[in-house]
Amino acid sequence: MFELLFPFFLLVLFFLFLCIIWRINARKYISSGTVASAYDAWTQDKLLERLWGEHIHLGFYPSGGGDIDFRKAKVQFVHELIKWSGLDKLPKGSRILDVGCGIGGSSRILAEYYGFNVTGITISPSQVKRARELTPNWLNCNFQVMDALDLKFEDGSFDAVWSVEAGAHMNDKTRFADEMLRTLRPGGYLALADWNSRDLKTYPPSFFEKLVLKQLLEQWVHPQFISINEFGNILRSNKNSSGTVISENWNSYTNPSWYDSIIEGIRRPFAILSLGPFALVKSIREIPTILLMNWAFRKGLMEFGVYKCRG
Ligand SMILES: C[S@@+](CC[C@H](N)C(=O)[O-])C[C@H]1O[C@@H](n2cnc3c(N)ncnc32)[C@H](O)[C@@H]1O
Repeated sequence: MFELLFPFFLLVLFFLFLCIIWRINARKYISSGTVASAYDAWTQDKLLERLWGEHIHLGFYPSGGGDIDFRKAKVQFVHELIKWSGLDKLPKGSRILDVGCGIGGSSRILAEYYGFNVTGITISPSQVKRARELTPNWLNCNFQVMDALDLKFEDGSFDAVWSVEAGAHMNDKTRFADEMLRTLRPGGYLALADWNSRDLKTYPPSFFEKLVLKQLLEQWVHPQFISINEFGNILRSNKNSSGTVISENWNSYTNPSWYDSIIEGIRRPFAILSLGPFALVKSIREIPTILLMNWAFRKGLMEFGVYKCRG
């Protein structure tokens, strides 16, 4: 009997161990400094880049199914957002600011395929270093360490401002919008994608949903999620926006990314294993959060918001 139960006992112990690590190592938001440290660590251990590639954002699956490769879906996401937001109408040489640029995945596409002159900023010094390593000299792309809530650019410096999945890390969404729209020239284009919650004031979360939201906030350094409508209204009421803000929920296009990001580890096991045994533990540690994200986006507790407006 004991021999029969032993593997089960081991499995429970392993699961408990994972839960303890998960709680102890929660990456709670305290300040933008904690966001910087988290992304520095994610960049230095190379795991995120090996699994997610150079784009730290979800993919776009045109038919809403996992019909294209995860990495191709990410590239497609960038092209879709460019088209949807009208950035493709800008002439070559236009100045673009990529706010929360990660290791430069979007910036390089904006520069290479559309001929733009791109400045990417992120709070993480390690990401800037890696973005520079990944960017060939001939591309018009430069990267700087900067806080999105305190942009060191003159008013109206850019023809377009682009930001993908960075806003959820900002503790002051109004200031985030203010800074982006301040640096956008009148008539310029704002293109934004972000993780939002549903409208929690109108549809309050259940006890279980509150627990899920707490985990999603605390595991990946998010101070707060707000709804697509709330952020749309923040943009709309900004003195530097034209007032016409269009937003959409792209859950159905992006949801397959969650399972795909786990399957990616199975498709390319060597990507993890070659980084050593700790990499395996670290990647397993992210699985519960990815599964919770998947659940929350599928149930509509979380929403993938895209926004466009003119300066
Ligand atoms: C999920 S990643 C997205 C990266 C990139 N946009 C991409 O799609 O590959 C979030 C990014 O936002 C950046 N970020 C978060 N808070 C920031 C802040 N206060 N100022 C500047 N960048 C910030 C992070 O450093 C990281 O690069």
